Amino acid sequence: MKINVLAVFPQILDSLHYGVTGTAIEKNILEIHRIDLKDYPLNSYGSIDDKPFSGSEGMVISPIPISKAMNLVKNKGKVIYLSPQGKTLNQKKVEELATLNDLTIICGRYEGIDQRIVDEYVDEEISIGDYVLSGGEIAATVLIDSIVRNLPGALGNKKSLTNDSFSDDRLKGHSYTRPRDFEGRKVPDELVSGNHELVKEWKIANSLWVTKQKRPDLFSNLQLSEKEMILLQKYELAQKNLRKGDG
Ligand code: ADE
Repeated sequence: MKINVLAVFPQILDSLHYGVTGTAIEKNILEIHRIDLKDYPLNSYGSIDDKPFSGSEGMVISPIPISKAMNLVKNKGKVIYLSPQGKTLNQKKVEELATLNDLTIICGRYEGIDQRIVDEYVDEEISIGDYVLSGGEIAATVLIDSIVRNLPGALGNKKSLTNDSFSDDRLKGHSYTRPRDFEGRKVPDELVSGNHELVKEWKIANSLWVTKQKRPDLFSNLQLSEKEMILLQKYELAQKNLRKGDG
């Protein structure tokens, strides 16, 4: 997948060179083409922004540097503008974007970009959450990281995707590693039972329980099978008994 990013501070995306995204770049699964809007200034002072006509505080990124940069991008694919006014990103959107060959991301800064750029080029305006960042570069990093996990070959272990939170509209459950007893806190018996069926059932029940506890909004939308309901009930009962034992 090729992703073009237009930004005032493209260096902020450097962290994509580490971990899963870094490996994807090395393996040519992902190609990131960063375009520095400061390379297309309005004047000899190097300005790329200007005062808003509304008279509001702050500055707006001029349409001129963005359109100059956009004209140099060959295969734009879908064009996304990252801003707090966009539709909130979720896993479904991430998976949809991961099917594309080309993507172009415009990062805003200051009071945003001139609306005529949005009208001319942008297919979708996306926000990464209901809070305001100083610029779209960190949002672009988040968006690209979430997309890359879904590109074929990007994750060493394909199963991590299906085990991920949100893969089934539910959260991933608890994780444990050695030692079996850490300062008196033990790994659940089922996980060390050596019985695959028991482990599988524990994982289902624990994931449902975690979802119910942490995200009741997600939980209430789940359509549980009869087996899942029974597994969750048994798990909840065991939790209650555990807590009784503690007290
Ligand atoms: N730019 C500033 N805040 C943002 C947000 N929440 N999402 C995407 N881009 C942004």
